[in-house]
Amino acid sequence: MIITLTGFMGVGKSTVSEMLSRLLLCNHIDLDKYIENKELMSINDIFEKKGESYFREIESKYLFDILETLQEKMVILSLGGGALLSAVNQEAVKNKSICVYLRAKHSTLAERLKKGKKHRPVIKEISDNEEEVKLKELFQAREEGYIKSASFIVDVDDKGLRQIVDEIIALL
Ligand code: S3P
Repeated sequence: MIITLTGFMGVGKSTVSEMLSRLLLCNHIDLDKYIENKELMSINDIFEKKGESYFREIESKYLFDILETLQEKMVILSLGGGALLSAVNQEAVKNKSICVYLRAKHSTLAERLKKGKKHRPVIKEISDNEEEVKLKELFQAREEGYIKSASFIVDVDDKGLRQIVDEIIALL
């Protein structure tokens, strides 16, 4: 069984996936880290040197590699926030995993994304005064994919990590 975690940048997919895998005694894979290891380049450099469309291509390729070849009984796979923009990826994640959408309010996400913006290629060029509008646009472009693929939605606003993880476990 593959449990995928999806949601917007900054929602906490990697942190949740780490604790979830510890409690469920299974491995976790972070799709972005997997891509970085395979390509021997950071996500930032891939965007900068090869462009977003190349990134989307390999993101899809490695997502399929994992979904189709994984033999483990159970594994947690956290996806990048844009991995479900593609209908093909949405379909594969829906059919081959139990997908949990970690949902947060715009205000929660905007607050969390203020720090470390420069490590996030999709938002690093956005100036402070256009941040609210641009983040909303990005969110709207991605949310349909999260909802289409999700088996469950877990709201994370004002919840601690342990509570979020316990909620996910109760849903599985
Ligand atoms: C992206 C989200 C990132 C990463 C890449 C693109 C996006 O992952 O895959 O920078 O388009 O939303 P996180 O959601 O883990 O930050």
